[in-house]
Amino acid sequence: MHYKDSRLNAKEWILSGRIIHPAYIKARRSVVSPNTFNMATSETMKAVVYTGGTEAFLEDRPKPTIVEPTDAIVRLTTAAICGTDLHILKGDVPTCKPGTVLGHEGVGIISSVGSAVKAFKTGDRVVVSCITSCLTCRFCRRGIPSHCLSGGWLLGNTIDGVQAEFARIPHADGSLFLAPDAEGITEKDLVMVSDVLPTSLECGVQNGRVEPGKTVAVIGAGPVGLGAVINAQLYSPRMVIVIDLDTNRLEKAKDFGATHTVQSGPGAVEEVMRLTGGDGVDVVIEAVGIPPTFALCQEIVAVGGNIANLGVHGKKVDLHLEKLWNRNITITTRNCDAVTSGMILKLIESGKLRAGNLVTHAYNMESVLDAYATFTAAAKTNALKVLLEF
Ligand SMILES: NC(=O)c1ccc[n+]([C@@H]2O[C@H](COP(=O)([O-])OP(=O)(O)OC[C@H]3O[C@@H](n4cnc5c(N)ncnc54)[C@H](O)[C@@H]3O)[C@@H](O)[C@H]2O)c1
Ligand SMILES: [Zn+2]
Ligand SMILES: [Zn+2]
Repeated sequence: MHYKDSRLNAKEWILSGRIIHPAYIKARRSVVSPNTFNMATSETMKAVVYTGGTEAFLEDRPKPTIVEPTDAIVRLTTAAICGTDLHILKGDVPTCKPGTVLGHEGVGIISSVGSAVKAFKTGDRVVVSCITSCLTCRFCRRGIPSHCLSGGWLLGNTIDGVQAEFARIPHADGSLFLAPDAEGITEKDLVMVSDVLPTSLECGVQNGRVEPGKTVAVIGAGPVGLGAVINAQLYSPRMVIVIDLDTNRLEKAKDFGATHTVQSGPGAVEEVMRLTGGDGVDVVIEAVGIPPTFALCQEIVAVGGNIANLGVHGKKVDLHLEKLWNRNITITTRNCDAVTSGMILKLIESGKLRAGNLVTHAYNMESVLDAYATFTAAAKTNALKVLLEF
């Protein structure tokens, strides 16, 4: 049946098995030939596709194949939806073109490897890193693979990602991690190693120089902010204050190790000052990405302290050097490099670090629109991390 003969809206159309919605066909016509749609054969797979509109679509796509000898093909078992995927749907990420399979967080089994892949073989269970690393370019050799000359953030951005039954992973040796097989490790624990844990550790906790006995404030209690709360505890700070607008997330933060929570807004600065005896906090981790929260960081940072910016900012922010010039503070920025992922997996293996309980919802592929709807309405649904299970 043609969509025009139906009274179905976009979601009903898809759930009824008519995978491609008219809005998407229109968006895709300029990208690929429309007759590549809906090829339900053994050579095809289900994939979540950015269509140029605000809703992700479930589509039949050709299964990826090895293109470069350094590639691996991974059969996904779990993928996670990230706030960044929502930014793509809002049109905030111009590098991601309509027609791209979404997703940069996933766990799966290698189904084939290119002839130059040395570290992995077919059948290996792996975590896919959000950052692709060639291991050899000048940025990779400096430990900044987020700026890899042939890698960086590719998956679900400039090339097809992992919210699909299969994904092609370029530079497999530098971009996959062998999943440990210790008892009690779940796919939920593993998928947090794709992005949430290395991002919050590298950009937040390590850049912020969390150390034993220090005071820490994490502004923003989303999955990444809570990842910072979890990772901060590896360094024994004496106080971890979590600041958010959302009372439910503040409540949850206590389960992940927050010693204190503060409602963002009027009175927040005074409350942090009261908690820290008037000093402010040694390490402020900004995990929201908006001007008011960056302003808050500057108001609560202690003399000699660090502001570790982790949030992705879309608007200009003010830097109050007229107040901060003599306070010996350090401000850092970073894109996740995922250079700590191997170490994090060792901590997961030993049971010292597990973040699977950040997952609040899991859906199968057929329910992908529900998964996105749940994640989009996080304030109402109390969602933190939402998974797709294959
Ligand atoms: N630097 C990197 O490499 C990198 C990687 C991944 C994510 N990020 C960024 O990290 C940030 C956090 O990611 P996330 O997935 O946890 O996002 P999220 O949207 O789930 O969480 C943001 C939290 O900020 C809170 N918030 C909003 N306004 C606030 C305010 N005025 N005061 C206090 N809290 C407020 C929200 O209630 C929410 O809980 C985002 O900006 C994301 O883009 C950066
Ligand atoms: Zn992510
Ligand atoms: Zn490189």
